[in-house]
Amino acid sequence: MNVAVLGLGYVGCVSAACLADLGHRVTGADRDEHKIRSVLDGRAPFYEPGLEDVVRRNVASGRLTATTSTAEALRDCDVALVCVGTPSEKNGNLGLDQLRRAVSDIAAVAPQLTRPLVVAIRSTVFPGTCEEVVLPALRDASNITVVSNPEFLREGIAVKDFVEPSLVVVGGQDRAAVEKVAGLYTPLGIKPCLVSLRTAEMIKYACNAFHAVKISFANEIGALAARLDVNAAEVMSTLCEDVKLNVSKAYLKPGFAFGGSCLPKDLRALVYRAQRLDIDLPLLESALPSNQAHLRRAIDAILDVPPCRIGIIGLAFKENTDDLRESPVVTLLEHLIGKGRDIRVFDPHIRLDEIYGTNRSFVVNMIPHIGKLLQNSIDGVLGWAEYLVIAQLQTPETMERIRASGLPVMDLVTASPAAAASLV
Ligand SMILES: NC(=O)c1ccc[n+]([C@@H]2O[C@H](COP(=O)([O-])OP(=O)(O)OC[C@H]3O[C@@H](n4cnc5c(N)ncnc54)[C@H](O)[C@@H]3O)[C@@H](O)[C@H]2O)c1
Repeated sequence: MNVAVLGLGYVGCVSAACLADLGHRVTGADRDEHKIRSVLDGRAPFYEPGLEDVVRRNVASGRLTATTSTAEALRDCDVALVCVGTPSEKNGNLGLDQLRRAVSDIAAVAPQLTRPLVVAIRSTVFPGTCEEVVLPALRDASNITVVSNPEFLREGIAVKDFVEPSLVVVGGQDRAAVEKVAGLYTPLGIKPCLVSLRTAEMIKYACNAFHAVKISFANEIGALAARLDVNAAEVMSTLCEDVKLNVSKAYLKPGFAFGGSCLPKDLRALVYRAQRLDIDLPLLESALPSNQAHLRRAIDAILDVPPCRIGIIGLAFKENTDDLRESPVVTLLEHLIGKGRDIRVFDPHIRLDEIYGTNRSFVVNMIPHIGKLLQNSIDGVLGWAEYLVIAQLQTPETMERIRASGLPVMDLVTASPAAAASLV
């Protein structure tokens, strides 16, 4: 393909040189003449291991060139990758001046374009930016389609990351445009993730936040371990041996708050002991407050439902157990009862006629106000309720019966409370 790369910084120059290396004809554009001269001389405009070789090779072969003119870069171009900077403003917000300027440069050239152009926003931009900033600026250019194609490379290893990407994401409404941009990376042999425009924008933030949380987590565990004379590297490398629960997809789906007899208790003990040792662990200290905030969102979402008879499905802290210790559903119910909501509860494993021992005495003695709301069958709830809240993963059979009831449903388990509320 004929590709224009607007902005020849770390992302743009690596993308331009490596795309040329894959066989595309690439023209890089930048307002900075020094960068253009460097590339045309076959040099990398900054230090990035391996980049200079790729630039030199592809300028020499004629597949890579550079210009200060956006119009020239866009001539006969199929795809334009926008790689301009989006630096932080003083208040932390993203600065979009470079993006606005680059897009307005494209809009100015649009009438002279000889073929349809796909504009791919590779710069990191907050979800909604393409729709709110890019598309309006290009609204008169019917020959231009916009997609999001975030970049995940790491400085210092950027060329290797481009050739062996961890993730290729392209998002947009126009399937042909999305596939065209994904096609740029076909020679890399990685299956691209084709998603919506906003997901593509958001995924970059989710990834960087995740990486930052991982690093902070390892460092906090390391700080505590060191203070306890425990080998931190051994702890973390052993943690990583668990690829079923630790380094895996487990626990990485948005859903309901956690609870139970272990996570809250052990986090509390860890944080308490760290505080006694004067070790600051802000990330670990924030896990329980974060969980509380998440529970509060669910409570608020249910309180926003106009008063009616609400059936709650699930009472234990998760499916397939009758353990009620620190179940977030108990807290949720107590708030709803406190606000005078009309509630009935069904949990397949907590039926007063069946449970015994500590669980029965917990229900009867500690939460009798909730015990009174318990139904012995799903039919009891479905026949009574005007509205359902799913607070625990249910079997496909139960979900089918819930769907068949035709009742409005807020599913806290498979969607975040805010998203769940919008399902109503
Ligand atoms: N650096 C990274 O490791 C990295 C990784 C992934 C994503 N990103 C994101 O990619 C984007 C670019 O990052 P970077 O580090 O390459 O930025 P950078 O500041 O190094 O480069 C941006 C380039 O864009 C040029 N430019 C600005 N306006 C222009 C215009 N109108 N026309 C042509 N060129 C223009 C600038 O002169 C500069 O050379 C940012 O949104 C960043 O958050 C960066």
